[in-house]
Amino acid sequence: MTLHSQIRRAASTAIAPSNIAFQKYWGKRDVTLQWPANDSISMTLTRAQTMTTARIQDQPFDVFEMAGTRIDSQAYPDHKVMRHIAMLRAELGLAGSLYIESRNTFPSDCGIASSASGFAALTLAVVSALAGQPSWEGLDLLGITRDRLAHWARRGSGSAGRSLYGGIVQWEAGVDASKQKIEAIFPATHWKISDVIVILSDAKKPTPTSSAHLAAWASPLFAPRLAGLEERSRRIKNAVAGRDISALGIELEQEALEMHAVAMTGEPPIRYLLPSTCEFLSWVRNERSRGALAAWFTIDAGANVHLICETDNETQIEQHVTKHWPHLKLLVDQIGDGPTLMKGEL
Ligand code: PMV
Repeated sequence: MTLHSQIRRAASTAIAPSNIAFQKYWGKRDVTLQWPANDSISMTLTRAQTMTTARIQDQPFDVFEMAGTRIDSQAYPDHKVMRHIAMLRAELGLAGSLYIESRNTFPSDCGIASSASGFAALTLAVVSALAGQPSWEGLDLLGITRDRLAHWARRGSGSAGRSLYGGIVQWEAGVDASKQKIEAIFPATHWKISDVIVILSDAKKPTPTSSAHLAAWASPLFAPRLAGLEERSRRIKNAVAGRDISALGIELEQEALEMHAVAMTGEPPIRYLLPSTCEFLSWVRNERSRGALAAWFTIDAGANVHLICETDNETQIEQHVTKHWPHLKLLVDQIGDGPTLMKGEL
């Protein structure tokens, strides 16, 4: 075996965090080009992660294993993971079948953006294994920049592009699909903020976001939403710049409720919120108004609630929620630095 082929067969492991959107990506202008209807802004998390290992193998097809499920490109050539791997291979112009193993540190498909961390980790691990470069520097030398990786990742799942960066990240829609831009606008060190994730249900969400993005256009609330987002985005960025949690919180809550209102009034109408979600949201607002809870909610495409707060208040918030809702599971997470890449397996 030559040195080159030995290097190429080494496994690469990517650990990518999920992210929680402050301003949601909701609606696509173009499905094939994965062009969003609007700019989005998110906070990259730390503990909610996907860990993915990829290595070149001898079988003439790709294999992907996760949570006891195994799929391969012979039996499932149209599965979104298989199509993503094929796209990456074509973009790189490199050959090689892959064996991939992946796992999450948190429940998937219930509004904690597992597709964001999933496609970010998959992209990074697959590109690294195909290119035989298990480091950012090595990839960069081959012209595979973080920017290119982010744009490849967003083609698997739009929000995954933002998980390639740490801190507060913006995905700009641009004037046409080729002008999309993904960048970190504040580093994780700018402001210590946390996401106390309240699991009201770990059941799979009823409708995948891929369908919900299309259904949004029929909502009478969608055009007014798009018209107001430039202003909201400015207010969110100002609140983050000034480390003003209550100014940020007002925007977070309006934005999340607006996204769900669009979903519920689209065609077909989609409801992710459970009665227990609404009950919990009212409780958060009541507790906050009596000065007992310095946290503001946001919600992704699911029933679960993300309480955004300053990290100094995280423990008090966790204890206060647990005291009133002892049966609920909480995942406490913080703003983080983005994905890591390493040689070998975990
Ligand atoms: O990346 P997708 O297609 O799963 O869509 C993400 C949609 C939201 O998570 C609800 C919002 C966002 O910007 O992350």
